[in-house]
Amino acid sequence: MKQRRFGRVGWQVSEIGYGMWGMGGWTGSDDAESMASLQRAVELGCNFFDTAWVYGDGHSERLLGELVRAQRETRLYVATKIPPKNQKWPARPEYRLDDVFPPDYIRRLTEASLKNLGLQKIDLIQFHVWDDSWAEDERWQRTIDDLKREGVVQAVGLSLNRWEPENGIQTIRTGLIDAVQVIYNIFDQSPEDRLFPVCRDLGVAVIARVPFDEGTLTGKLTEASRWPKEDWRSHYFGPANLKASVERAEALRPLVPPGTTMADLALRFILSNADVSTVIPGMRKPRHVDANLAASDRGGLDAGLIERLRAYRWDRLPTPWSD
Ligand SMILES: NC(=O)c1ccc[n+]([C@@H]2O[C@H](COP(=O)([O-])OP(=O)(O)OC[C@H]3O[C@@H](n4cnc5c(N)ncnc54)[C@H](OP(=O)(O)O)[C@@H]3O)[C@@H](O)[C@H]2O)c1
Repeated sequence: MKQRRFGRVGWQVSEIGYGMWGMGGWTGSDDAESMASLQRAVELGCNFFDTAWVYGDGHSERLLGELVRAQRETRLYVATKIPPKNQKWPARPEYRLDDVFPPDYIRRLTEASLKNLGLQKIDLIQFHVWDDSWAEDERWQRTIDDLKREGVVQAVGLSLNRWEPENGIQTIRTGLIDAVQVIYNIFDQSPEDRLFPVCRDLGVAVIARVPFDEGTLTGKLTEASRWPKEDWRSHYFGPANLKASVERAEALRPLVPPGTTMADLALRFILSNADVSTVIPGMRKPRHVDANLAASDRGGLDAGLIERLRAYRWDRLPTPWSD
């Protein structure tokens, strides 16, 4: 597993990290299988794990805490997120900071995450939604500064709203943000336009999330795919999105190099970009861990293939089902 520098924070993180949303409660999650997958990832050199308080109301954080406490001899980096107080995804400019991230709430939820994790400190705490209208507000700035000085957190990040990669740039320019988490994949190439150059200039780490577009870019979905109503994917892959997503993934199939998979192509597209510090595929099965982590050994794609993949860019705007 190759490592990359995590922005100006300077950590050496595995270029393939671990996304832990699914194991917080997507249908088909099995804790024993999730733990086996996490352990396998550590054995293969993965050292960066992304979770959130909201992934099963602490369930995913508890699994990560169990892993980290059992692996004290290996340095594992823990990234988690503070959910919006008003529980609304995504953030909107009309929401006040007081409704979403008031100072006492930032502290209280950070402490709640620490308790779920069973750890003394969090490496990276991220705001789970963001709106740039809060950039200059001193209340969040002072609170994260205090948490850093107290040693409760080491670094602070923004997890940008889906399909709004530029809604955070003003905040990044304050110099107070160490990392940004953004959707970046073969479809969602737009972070390259404005976000990545700013991160590069300021030494802000980039966490590429949702590398498979929630599953589309594994090539495994069909127009007949369905999920139980309570599974978030039944909402995301509703009539307005499933057919269009599957058609775009099918159109991509001829570009998958012989003997490899679409998932491999999707990860290696992301790894080809040096602005990315780590990519965090969601995984709950050891076989997915094996397949995905091996993409690091295969490395980036050749320039010709990257150029052809430019045509598959799919610029989307937030909709009521994309939260
Ligand atoms: N707002 C936010 O901050 C936010 C929002 C979304 C996601 N995230 C983070 O980003 C991470 C990644 O996104 P995601 O998990 O939503 O979606 P994703 O990584 O795009 O896709 C995950 C799906 O792909 C499947 N998969 C993984 N590897 C595969 C392989 N080699 N072959 C076939 N299928 C494979 C997974 O199956 P199994 O799970 O069954 O292995 C899962 O169903 C999350 O886990 C979370 O940490 C953050």
